[in-house]
Amino acid sequence: MKIIAYGIREDELPYVKEWENDNQIKIETVPDLLDEKTVQLAANHDAIVAYQQKDYTPELIKKIRDLHIKYLSIRNTGVDNVDGDAVNQYGLIVTNVPSYSPSAVAELSIAKLLELFRKTPQFNRKMENNDFTWEPDISKEIRTQTIGVIGTGRIGQTAIKIFKAFGAKIIGYDIYQNPTLKEEGIYVDTLEELYAKSTVITIHSPATEDNYHLLDDEAFNNMQDGVHILNMARGTLIDTDALIRALDSGKVAGAALDTLENETDYFNGKLTESQVNGTFKNLLQRENVLITPHTAFYTEPAVRNMVIDALNASKDLIETGHSDKEVKFK
Ligand code: COI
Repeated sequence: MKIIAYGIREDELPYVKEWENDNQIKIETVPDLLDEKTVQLAANHDAIVAYQQKDYTPELIKKIRDLHIKYLSIRNTGVDNVDGDAVNQYGLIVTNVPSYSPSAVAELSIAKLLELFRKTPQFNRKMENNDFTWEPDISKEIRTQTIGVIGTGRIGQTAIKIFKAFGAKIIGYDIYQNPTLKEEGIYVDTLEELYAKSTVITIHSPATEDNYHLLDDEAFNNMQDGVHILNMARGTLIDTDALIRALDSGKVAGAALDTLENETDYFNGKLTESQVNGTFKNLLQRENVLITPHTAFYTEPAVRNMVIDALNASKDLIETGHSDKEVKFK
């Protein structure tokens, strides 16, 4: 069995070794990301393991199939970079890791809300200036908030549990309603209702064609003044220019963004001067906007599960032609 794993980082190597020892199978690991050039490295392998970063285009998918490789196991959850039509057209079988650690992502939402509320950047700056004054940075408390959760899958559910433990009131919206949460009566019928009632909105939905720029000018206009926005999901779910307008008007009092629109070019890398453009600079300069570089997933348990589950899926595909982690593209 020959599996090649692309884009393997130093922090993933111990987990690859662990899997190799447990399964007595050697994995070829390469630091390069999977793309139309590096795909040649996969020649003579039975399956590819990679993670989401670059676009997996029809050309790339054709090249994978031209190498007679049928299986691609992605070691993360999101598959919005994968051209689903090409997957179906060329008969590639794709798996993902749907639940490597919902806590990893949910915990960052809560951490960032606490930072926004407790004005950590403001007080850090004050400390740098030997300034021990309090005003005007008085905090809110999570228990007084109504948290609107968009997307109540595994991550949303974990976020709900944690926010509940803080004593917050929870309302949720999802096109697929979770039966237990439904019984608890957390769902509102429309997003407009969620916008109108929430003091904090946290997004935990996958990116789809239907929810591109879900939070646009109209959505922000429907929200309460001084709402806080948390996005640990995908950059495309927020129209960034509309967010900037909502920050300028005070409609949005603070935002934490772990994902940004068009982040692919600088994903886990350094930005060039030209990449620090108007929109990005505008957000970075604001103390009430906290940006992290798509690190919500980046915890030890999560990374271990991403590697082990993806390799297991790959092995299942090679041995049986199937995996319970198969992704169906419409
Ligand atoms: C995901 O699992 O979808 C993530 O956002 C993690 C990232 C490594 C692509």
